[in-house]
Amino acid sequence: MQSGQVKRVETTPFEGQKPGTSGLRKKVKVFTQPHYLQNFVQSTFNALPADKVKGARIVVSGDGRYYSKEAIQIIIKMAAGNGVRSVWVGQNGLLSTPAVSAVIRERVGADGSKASGAFILTASHNPGGPNEDFGIKYNMENGGPAPESITDKIYENTTKIKEYLTVELPDVDIAKVGVTTFSVDGGTFDVDVFDSASDYVKLMKSIFDFGSIRKLLSSPKFTFCYDALHGVAGAYAKRIFVEELGAKESSLLNCVPKEDFGGGHPDPNLTYAKELVARMGLGKSTTQDEPPEFGAAADGDADRNMILGKRFFVTPSDSVAIIAANAVEAIPYFSAGLKGVARSMPTSAALDVVAKHLNLKFFEVPTGWKFFGNLMDAGLCSVCGEESFGTGSDHIREKDGIWAVLAWLSILAYKNKENLGGEKLVSVEDIVRQHWATFGRHYYTRYDYENVDAGAAKELMASLVKLQSSLSEVNQIVKGIHSDVSSVVNADEFEYKDPVDGSISKHQGIRYLFEDGSRLVFRLSGTGSEGATIRLYIEQYEKDPSKIGRESQEALGPLVEVALKLSKMQEFTGRSAPTVIT
Ligand code: G6P
Ligand code: ZN
Repeated sequence: MQSGQVKRVETTPFEGQKPGTSGLRKKVKVFTQPHYLQNFVQSTFNALPADKVKGARIVVSGDGRYYSKEAIQIIIKMAAGNGVRSVWVGQNGLLSTPAVSAVIRERVGADGSKASGAFILTASHNPGGPNEDFGIKYNMENGGPAPESITDKIYENTTKIKEYLTVELPDVDIAKVGVTTFSVDGGTFDVDVFDSASDYVKLMKSIFDFGSIRKLLSSPKFTFCYDALHGVAGAYAKRIFVEELGAKESSLLNCVPKEDFGGGHPDPNLTYAKELVARMGLGKSTTQDEPPEFGAAADGDADRNMILGKRFFVTPSDSVAIIAANAVEAIPYFSAGLKGVARSMPTSAALDVVAKHLNLKFFEVPTGWKFFGNLMDAGLCSVCGEESFGTGSDHIREKDGIWAVLAWLSILAYKNKENLGGEKLVSVEDIVRQHWATFGRHYYTRYDYENVDAGAAKELMASLVKLQSSLSEVNQIVKGIHSDVSSVVNADEFEYKDPVDGSISKHQGIRYLFEDGSRLVFRLSGTGSEGATIRLYIEQYEKDPSKIGRESQEALGPLVEVALKLSKMQEFTGRSAPTVIT
């Protein structure tokens, strides 16, 4: 057995190690500065309760992006230095974010104990590679992201750090499944490399009826396509869709995880998932073949999803509403009923209408998955989702890209139960249109202005807040642009009081609420790594069945114009068009 001794290494603080919405994300070049990663990791260990570190077991893995392998070796040695007893690592350092959450909650070691938390190495949907982003975040014992009380403490620690603890040990071969045991200061320390998919696959099989999904996929009329955008979802897609559910291998696109995501932007939306979008018959460069019935994509760490039908895009806001409306019938895990549903504030109100209809508890929370986690821990929420392509349930404490795909496949299987031999299958588009006909439609779009000058973005936001003090002035501007746009009846900055722990989150986005239920929301992104990203969310509710079939960009045109003028977008940012429209 190799042995080592704990070593103290002197260091000095780095500026700007404040975790954002989802951990610390910076360019690889920033992370690879000597001591940079180490400072953050030590600050995290120091922020955690001692018993969650000393003698405990932690998980370290991620989406496999560039610098992950080096980071994993550094963290393993620092874990040993900090008295951690055992580290679990997914094979090749790969674990999707939802799989990490599942591993923390479900996986039991040979000694009968579980993990107390995890370092997840990912910058989610941000590009990877030597000139791109790396990221790290810590998840707690419930499988969810560290709460603000911990991330604030981590940050405070990073500003004062003087030393970190490590042990000089040989690198562990993380490509090979198996346990390596070391002796550290007389005690044992082990690193257990395990199959990245098995815990997660087991959990999915306990939630969904794989038999009925398999039947759907085996119907010659049902065609399927899944794009992992070279993220870690690829490590699960083959196991679940091909091996378990019988999809053809050719249904998988970009399912080999790559350190640089093949040079792409691993974000599942209509702009970045180009290949899938073309295959599904959407966008300009459509392929000649008949598009598949169903398509989906994931982001780098596989917690996000995009759902597509043949030549049809499902907005994430509609997706969660439709899953909630059908969950009890279509998904065995929910057969006893939903405890409640929740969405983030900028997500459309489509879910609200379903909640009202089904008489479900409903919550509107700030952007960021951790807010859902609290509700779930308290047994208040079963299904939740965000406009930012995140959908999930209380089976774990992260959003879950593959879960969302399985949820949709379950709904399709359920709707086609008696119909697999029929003329035509009930399609994704049929399901969405039927939903609109029942509940009304929330036209929805999001404009992103990426990498805007941070000062200019702040000024724009401040000017929007200031404008809120006079609704008559606001309405004068609105009517001056489009007299037929409804009036603003309320305007505020969203503030949230957590019903479980009572904590208050302020400044969570600027809202302009219209008489007819339309909304304009302005928010600064919390996940960028450079400059500021302004997000503009535009929504309009239409109950009249004769008006629910319009093109969404056309239907929202007047409101978009109002939003751009109200915010003086071009004046402040110098941008005449958004970087991305979703
Ligand atoms: C991450 C979080 C999501 C959140 C999103 C917002 O993906 O996990 O819960 O919705 O960030 O990102 P933004 O860039 O809008 O702050
Ligand atoms: Zn992600």
